[in-house]
Amino acid sequence: MDRELVVVIDFGGQYNQLVARRVRECNVYCEIYSYKYDLDKIKQMQPKGIILTGGPSSCYEEGAATCSKELFEMGIPVLGLCYGAQVMTLVLGGKVERAAVREYGKTEVNVDNSSALFRNVSSKTICWMSHFDYISRMASGFQAVASTADCPVAAAEYAEKQLYAIQFHPEVLHTQEGSKMLYNFVRNICGCRGDWRMDAFVGEAISNIRRKVGGGKVLCALSGGVDSSVAAVLLSKAVGGQLTCVFVDHGLLRKNEGDEVEAVFGPDGNYDLNFIRVNAQQRFYEKLAGVSEPEQKRKIIGEEFIRVFEEEAQKIGAVDFLVQGTIYPDVVESGLGGESAVIKSHHNVGGLPDCVDFKEIIEPLRNLFKDEVRKVGLELGIPEHLVFRQPFPGPGLGIRIIGEVTAEKVKIVQDADAIYREEIAAAGLERSINQYFAALTNMRSVGVMGDERTYDYAIALRAVNTIDFMTAESAQLPWEVLQKVTSRIINEVSHVNRVMYDITSKPPGTIEFE
Ligand code: XMP
Repeated sequence: MDRELVVVIDFGGQYNQLVARRVRECNVYCEIYSYKYDLDKIKQMQPKGIILTGGPSSCYEEGAATCSKELFEMGIPVLGLCYGAQVMTLVLGGKVERAAVREYGKTEVNVDNSSALFRNVSSKTICWMSHFDYISRMASGFQAVASTADCPVAAAEYAEKQLYAIQFHPEVLHTQEGSKMLYNFVRNICGCRGDWRMDAFVGEAISNIRRKVGGGKVLCALSGGVDSSVAAVLLSKAVGGQLTCVFVDHGLLRKNEGDEVEAVFGPDGNYDLNFIRVNAQQRFYEKLAGVSEPEQKRKIIGEEFIRVFEEEAQKIGAVDFLVQGTIYPDVVESGLGGESAVIKSHHNVGGLPDCVDFKEIIEPLRNLFKDEVRKVGLELGIPEHLVFRQPFPGPGLGIRIIGEVTAEKVKIVQDADAIYREEIAAAGLERSINQYFAALTNMRSVGVMGDERTYDYAIALRAVNTIDFMTAESAQLPWEVLQKVTSRIINEVSHVNRVMYDITSKPPGTIEFE
């Protein structure tokens, strides 16, 4: 059975990946391509529908992102969202102009329920608006099917040609019935069956891997993070004994994390991974001695990681395949997929492939979003605490210790962080905060403990909520939780006499401290 595909054409809007995720929530597979992508290639993919995303510019400006008229003449249903709706209008002969009033935020929209797009949607519904420009004249054949107080054409359709234009953003959760609208488009208008499911994915991925690997040898760098864990387990289910997983413990992991990873994936765990743990803690501490500049620390950790892995790979000898836990946002952000967010790729440690003698890379999660990777992880029986692990940077605690890294400081931050995590879990807040951790500031100050004067470190606590990790808000933790964490850290962790809570948002701060 052929896989159904919806193509999302990216005009650089900030919600591009969100559109794709929402479509997949309707159990329809979809991929993102830049508006510059060759239309013939898109045609060859035989998509069941096309969605045009929002974008940051004005479509009538010189050099603005656009698309060819042919896109609307292929007999494939097209849905334009915000900028996408305006481009559709302009390309098909309508008019888009700067509006007298900028609409921004939650807005009441009156919709015409006779439109297939708004089936089962309330006739007055709250939608998320964000636009300067508006459709001042619809293209010929279109009729308005939604409006607001300030915007006469909040949505338009040319039903016979299956062309739909929406000024607001159905992909954003603030649009209360947005998922219904997207469902109506992909399932009813495009006629997708909706058979994209994670249980089907696992079976399909395993047989694809078996076909590709045959009797070959496979090597995987396992970090214990969600993506590499899921990729490794998928490989082990597919080719068992042909796989070797190398786990480098760089001594900058969270408290007990190395042992926890070993307990799950090592010889006493449930998986057949040929797990090799390399205890390289001392090596990393020696390389980091005397270094305090953040970027230099990152570089040293990244390079040393590659050296350790390389040595291990040499012991194993040539392999046929190297597994990477690349996921779909990495693909989109590296510029291969969509248009926006090329900004973020600097975070990956990178460089691994060159140091290993292999023929081909396998990326079994390349088409999945993070939440889908988690579903696959659960499907494969990986423990929940690993599947729902919060993001942890490759350089680990190395960038959560301001200034020079030493074994003693690693221990301090590990102990403080463990207490923080325990208390967050005890308060039931684990899943409602996107990322939280303790960092060791380089500041020492005077305090008193009993009758003694102390001169010890300050621990900083961070907790943020974010959608995409590009911007973030500090989480408003309950005061009692902060108090409990603070008193436990002061009492239980030596050399700490102060705890601070960081309420800076990003920007201007970053999530990590270095
Ligand atoms: P910042 O600190 O840039 O962090 O606001 C955004 C997200 O990226 C993670 N991060 C890193 N991840 N290597 C990584 O693998 C790094 O060097 C690195 N620096 C930051 C950070 O944990 C957050 O999720």
